[in-house]
Amino acid sequence: MSLDPYKLRLDFPILSQTMPNGKPLVYLDNGATSQKPISVIQATDDYYAKENANIHRGVYYLSQHATELFERTRIKTSHFFQAQCAKAIIFTRGTTDAINLVAQTYGRANVSEGDEIVLSVQEHHSNLVPWQMLAQEKKAFLKFFPILEDTTYDLSKLNEIITKRTKIVAISQMSNVTGTVHDLSKIIDRARQVGAKVLVDGAQAACHMPIHLVDMDVDFYAFSAHKMLGPTGVGVLFGKEEILEAMPPWLGGGDMIESVELESSTYAALPAKLEAGTPNIAGVIGFSHALDYLQKVGMKNIKDHERMLTEYALDQLHKVGGLTLYGTEDLEKRGGVVSFTMDGIHPHDVGSILDEEGVAIRVGHHCCQPLMKQLQIPGTCRASFYFYNTKEDIDMLVHSIGKVKSIFGRVVRK
Ligand code: ALA
Repeated sequence: MSLDPYKLRLDFPILSQTMPNGKPLVYLDNGATSQKPISVIQATDDYYAKENANIHRGVYYLSQHATELFERTRIKTSHFFQAQCAKAIIFTRGTTDAINLVAQTYGRANVSEGDEIVLSVQEHHSNLVPWQMLAQEKKAFLKFFPILEDTTYDLSKLNEIITKRTKIVAISQMSNVTGTVHDLSKIIDRARQVGAKVLVDGAQAACHMPIHLVDMDVDFYAFSAHKMLGPTGVGVLFGKEEILEAMPPWLGGGDMIESVELESSTYAALPAKLEAGTPNIAGVIGFSHALDYLQKVGMKNIKDHERMLTEYALDQLHKVGGLTLYGTEDLEKRGGVVSFTMDGIHPHDVGSILDEEGVAIRVGHHCCQPLMKQLQIPGTCRASFYFYNTKEDIDMLVHSIGKVKSIFGRVVRK
């Protein structure tokens, strides 16, 4: 069964909007955030209009009802991602928050002077800076997987990079710049051999393909709701239950305690121990509806549709002269992201001219400055797809790139 993007688009009010200049919106910045279906918008609205109360605190109906909606989302999330159990799902503010949580709890408790943390050169800053901060504090070392010309991880020195000194391997499953989807199995196997823990940054992957956390055998997996139809300000940290149990808390405050004395406290059981303070209740409830929507569309269908779009986009963009495309050509190893540069034209200029045509892409370093350095470019133009994108969106992208060329051609000739 395949999906019908033309029908699904009708559920997303924003996609039928025109921009202030009268151009219809062509939204190709899904790597930054996805658009939201009416069911998610309605659910968050309804929560504030009819169900708003704090959770885990009240004996009255509204509080208990909100608690039930919130906790049901945790169970739904664990089923959706085939996690070990609902307690292994920690709600955070997003992927960045989830990774910082692991660095500040598991990391601070287990990384010592001289230990090694393994990353890759193409990590998003959110899977780089938290580990730099930890390594500086603990006098630990950071090591990096290089990338091959096709932007997949270079694993030729796997056993030298992951060693007995490695405590944590933190690695992304899909690049937000090149769309490269990495096979992590060899990295995870090697980490197991030396007793290192593996955190996977799934920010770009979780929203685009089926994920089976138990099968992946990762220790931690982090992702954001807002890239998968949900509200901003909600993320998920999956952790193996026994590891989360042993981890000290990070933020202290309400909800995460068992009992409090003036000088000390004991902490609540999972998941509350790692969820201090009032969470984004409306956001989590909205995320529940996002999961329902994705379930209906089917993650395999989403993956297949984006593969078709990526193949079409690469075909069309290859026909445009003066473009450099980044990432592997092997569609088995990439998701729906296409990054390119235009000869002699700054990505910001490309982005601004595309904007005049209603085409929304992201330009710049994409929070991956070390990767840009590696590629020896200041930035790229990035079009990133979701299941509601169509071939016509890509045609519009290509048409607008033609406009950039004609404008810059005119400028050069003057
Ligand atoms: N990480 C998001 C992106 O790549 C924000 O655009």
